Amino acid sequence: MKRHNPLAAMFMISLLCILSACGNELKQNHTIAATDNPTVKESNNEDTVEKKTLVVYFSATGTTKTLSEHAADILNSDIYEIVPAIPYTEEDLAYYTDGRADQEQQDNEARPAISEPIKNIEQYETIVLGYPIWHGQAPRIISTFLESYDFSNKTILPFCTSQSSGIGTSDTNLHSLADNAKWLEGRRFAADTTRETIKEWLDSMAIKPDKNAFDFDKHVVKLNSGYEMPMMGLGTYSLSDDECYNSIIALLKNGGRLIDTAYMYHNEASVGRAVRESNIAREEIFVTTKLYLTQYSDAANAIDEALERLGLDYIDLMLLHHPGEGDVEAYKAMEQAVKDGKIHSIGLSNWYVEELEAFLPQISITPALIQNEIHPYYQENDVIPYVQNLGITMQGWYPFGGRGHTSELLSDKTITTIAAAHNVTPAQVILRWNLQKGVTVIPGSSNPNHIQENLDLFTFELSQDEMAQINALDRNEKHDWY
Ligand SMILES: NC(=O)c1ccc[n+]([C@@H]2O[C@H](COP(=O)([O-])OP(=O)(O)OC[C@H]3O[C@@H](n4cnc5c(N)ncnc54)[C@H](OP(=O)(O)O)[C@@H]3O)[C@@H](O)[C@H]2O)c1
Ligand SMILES: Cc1cc2nc3c(=O)[nH]c(=O)nc-3n(C[C@H](O)[C@H](O)[C@H](O)COP(=O)(O)O)c2cc1C
Repeated sequence: MKRHNPLAAMFMISLLCILSACGNELKQNHTIAATDNPTVKESNNEDTVEKKTLVVYFSATGTTKTLSEHAADILNSDIYEIVPAIPYTEEDLAYYTDGRADQEQQDNEARPAISEPIKNIEQYETIVLGYPIWHGQAPRIISTFLESYDFSNKTILPFCTSQSSGIGTSDTNLHSLADNAKWLEGRRFAADTTRETIKEWLDSMAIKPDKNAFDFDKHVVKLNSGYEMPMMGLGTYSLSDDECYNSIIALLKNGGRLIDTAYMYHNEASVGRAVRESNIAREEIFVTTKLYLTQYSDAANAIDEALERLGLDYIDLMLLHHPGEGDVEAYKAMEQAVKDGKIHSIGLSNWYVEELEAFLPQISITPALIQNEIHPYYQENDVIPYVQNLGITMQGWYPFGGRGHTSELLSDKTITTIAAAHNVTPAQVILRWNLQKGVTVIPGSSNPNHIQENLDLFTFELSQDEMAQINALDRNEKHDWY
């Protein structure tokens, strides 16, 4: 569904700028099935979703291990090291000496034992399998691994590391040991392969991070770019410079670390000043800004100008504010800025299903985040699952309905009743509802008490019934035109 008219949007924005003296722009608890396998490392919080991808690797000298760790980090997946029951010594590995490794590779039937099995492999749909090349093939311990489990209905993506050999027949030979698996074409990597290359490869193979990688213990979500972003923060739309500065200081004092601004909010400089003067390490703070439609024709410059206005060395997340003319080229400029280290993550704002279907095939880096209007009266229940299934994090703007609508929403009977039951405020209930749906939030406020309240979302939890009651409030009632 198309909901955006750029010309109308630009006209309205101009009008609002004039009116405001050109001041400002107008999940659920998931438990990872426990494994008592000591070699599977997994996140231990109770609110993340069950993991779907497992990176499995064998590494004798550390090369495959490093790349496997990159993959697991990017995918937010669990990782399992194939540890030989009898470790390989340096002597064992010395090749062309007829040592242990040489002998195993010559013997098609050799099956070195693995020290600990994976106890709950059923939960994983996709296995990324890494191994070194030994005499043109995978080490025989990979055969042991593949013959130990039933891989039907699972996808296996192999990769190898080597001095110089390609993956050759090693992966097809391995496939014959797990012929009921969906076997993807494998790839060889050199020892100096970067994390970025691993990410590009996983993207190209359509292996997405486990969705909704929400960590309710750390209050962060892992974006598909590999960076962590706080789940909740502060929106700065309509905040004047002083309000913006003071609100950010209040946010940071109360432990908030996520700030949302935009070129169109005319307050990037105040955001940057507050961040710089906060005495909090830059890497602890997450700053989002946006390019506006009028900047798309010269986006590379606009990115540099944003960095200058913010006075920061890098931008954590930059979004295109609206779909519109030149958006693909502008996105490509952001992709280049990621490569240049100017931006960590990139994404979109006000893109819906139809716009995404047209846009995504034209770009290389999958957006890390999509920011759209979301509140109990406008829930986007069509868009949210679509976006999350692409491994993209969702963020809601106007969580309280936006100025002019907040009192109706905050006094809604369903919400006030739920708030009273938890001894929290209606604002907190709405924000928590978002988080439990896997939607990150950036409520706007210039009131330090509200800012503090809006960060305090982790002492209570909405029941499934309460979530359902709020879900039932949807009226498809959009409070802005884009
Ligand atoms: N990408 C886009 O196109 C787009 C569009 C719109 C907005 N946004 C982003 O989304 C952010 C949020 O939207 P918004 O600020 O316009 O609207 P909003 O968050 O829905 O509502 C802000 C209003 O809620 C009030 N409020 C905040 N916390 C409250 C609390 N705990 N109790 C009672 N009232 C509370 C604020 O008043 P006080 O100041 O008194 O707290 C303010 O009037 C924006 O700031 C902006 O960063 C993005
Ligand atoms: C027994 C043995 C045989 C090897 N055979 C090859 C080979 O045929 N081709 C190649 O390019 N590298 C070969 N190598 C080098 C490894 O594939 C390469 O160093 C790999 O990246 C090591 O990965 P790891 O550190 O994860 O164990 C061999 C290494 C060993 C120990």
